[in-house]
Amino acid sequence: MEKGLIPEDVINRIRERADIVDIVGAHLSLTKAGQNFKGLCPFHQEKTPSFTVSPSRQTFHCFGCGEGGNVFSFLMKIDGSTFPAVVRALGEKVGVPVEDRPVSPAVRQRMELRERLLALTKVAAERFHLNLLADAEAEPARNYLASRGMTPDTIERFDIGYSQSGWDGTLTALTKAGFSAEDIAAAGLAIPREQAAGFYDRFRGRVMFPIRDLQKQVIGFGGRMLDDGTPKYLNSPETPLFSKGRILYALDAARDAITRLGYVIVVEGYFDAIALHQAGCANAVATLGTALTPEHLELIRRFTQRVVLLFDPDAAGVRAALRTMDLFLGSGFSVQVGSVPAGDDPDTFIRSQGPDAFAALIKSAPSLLEFTVQASLTAGRAGTVEDRVRCVEDVLTLLQKLSNPVEQSAAIRHVADQLGMDEKALLARYKALPRKSVKASTPQPSAGVFENQPLPKDEEVLLQLLVHEVLTPEMWTEVRAEDFTDTRAKRLVSLVCAADAPHTRQQALAQAGEDELCGSITRALSMTELPYDNINAAFQQSLKALKLRRIAVELQEIKAAEALATKAGRDEEARTLLVRLNVLQQERQKLSKINPSSYNEAGRIHA
Ligand code: UTP
Ligand code: MN
Repeated sequence: MEKGLIPEDVINRIRERADIVDIVGAHLSLTKAGQNFKGLCPFHQEKTPSFTVSPSRQTFHCFGCGEGGNVFSFLMKIDGSTFPAVVRALGEKVGVPVEDRPVSPAVRQRMELRERLLALTKVAAERFHLNLLADAEAEPARNYLASRGMTPDTIERFDIGYSQSGWDGTLTALTKAGFSAEDIAAAGLAIPREQAAGFYDRFRGRVMFPIRDLQKQVIGFGGRMLDDGTPKYLNSPETPLFSKGRILYALDAARDAITRLGYVIVVEGYFDAIALHQAGCANAVATLGTALTPEHLELIRRFTQRVVLLFDPDAAGVRAALRTMDLFLGSGFSVQVGSVPAGDDPDTFIRSQGPDAFAALIKSAPSLLEFTVQASLTAGRAGTVEDRVRCVEDVLTLLQKLSNPVEQSAAIRHVADQLGMDEKALLARYKALPRKSVKASTPQPSAGVFENQPLPKDEEVLLQLLVHEVLTPEMWTEVRAEDFTDTRAKRLVSLVCAADAPHTRQQALAQAGEDELCGSITRALSMTELPYDNINAAFQQSLKALKLRRIAVELQEIKAAEALATKAGRDEEARTLLVRLNVLQQERQKLSKINPSSYNEAGRIHA
């Protein structure tokens, strides 16, 4: 049963009657610490308590592993149970029974279709697997898998199969098992004939990889040719069960290892993921012939915030890495990019070089930023003078994202070296660039809350004031999501600003605390003490820093666009841009006058 099917008001009544301190206290021992309770986190190994329960907010948050949520999420996590099951059980305990509510015919139909398709894909996977093990026709497939080093144990674990080469082997078998041709087609296993009535098998004569969701239900398939025929791989189409931008192959098998090891390895192919698992790297998953999507990141975020990407070493792989830069920026993930030598892929590499060599490769993988800088440099060295200039600008912009000044100057020296440029000239140019993102320069009271990916200090202060609900109505009118640069901050602010009355604002904050993207920062911020004596001053200072930073970014963009427009002779456009430039500069000046001594151009707060 799905979450939406238990009426919202019943869920709320249960939540109101249950006390999270009691519920959590039944599972671990809690001691009072200020307004909150603390204990040893049940979700990761620790010696000093960082698991915090807030009775006033009825939430929990672990400052060690980032796990957190409300009473329902706690029970789901600790019992490994589903949302409806937890709501029902807790409802019984607190005396609010959950009655089954009739659902609309459309919803019922969708649920029933899903159920039927899941039953169907399960039977199909079993049949493909049996084919592979026992069918005489599958002899070449068995040899093929053996030639690629796949052990019988791995074939079992990943439930690998074989689809027969005839036109309707799968259709016939599934029809016999009681499924309609329409459902078989809806599950992506058959295709309507063009010339005549009826259907034919989508997958014919292929090695079959069942694709499973986190509940280990088969939702789709990938099929590989045994020879050089095309397409090499065929995946299920988008179906009510399957959407390739939202699924990572082998995540069901990898989730425990990901949590245990603290990171995930993302590869591009089925064989790559499977070979890594077979060699003992059980934290590997694969995308399904698509670039990583924001949905993929949210899926991964449930288990870890550390990612090692392994792209194929060809140019397409490098471009894929560059594209993910924007996806990951401000996402809170720490990302490394490993590269196997040219001519290899992760599958061939780990089988020929062994797990130790592979571990060394992972260990020495540069950060996504370093990798991107290297790739730009390679392109810059190879190109024209113009290419090199563009490359310098690109790289300098990227370097701003490095938070550590030592790292920055080392990187600049490196870039100068690589391009045969004067280091001082490069440094001068670097300093002239407006800052894109600003990190706190000194440790702050709440440092350590976001060890992985700190918020810009001004954004952290504003959010802290916001979640502690100490802003006056006048202050509220000045907070706008588009001024924030961190995507988690943007999300939190837009959720809370969408609510207008104080009561709905509280609800919005509760919702933000459970949000996939901003839940962790919301909870962490609300559980730290407010360190400011003068809330108004803290607010005004941070808001000003935030706005200055936003203006600096926009100014830089407009200057660049204006230069381009002038060069191309688009005078009208250039004039418009200059007007906007002027407006922004005035805005900046006005802001700076408020209290000029506290700020510099970069919008840093001098504590
Ligand atoms: P690769 O061709 O790199 O896959 O495509 P691979 O796993 O290394 O292939 P082999 O078996 O070792 O030669 C990477 C992924 O892209 C998708 C598949 O998901 C594949 O695993 N793909 C590739 C397709 O969907 N269709 C294709 O025709 C090729
Ligand atoms: Mn391969």
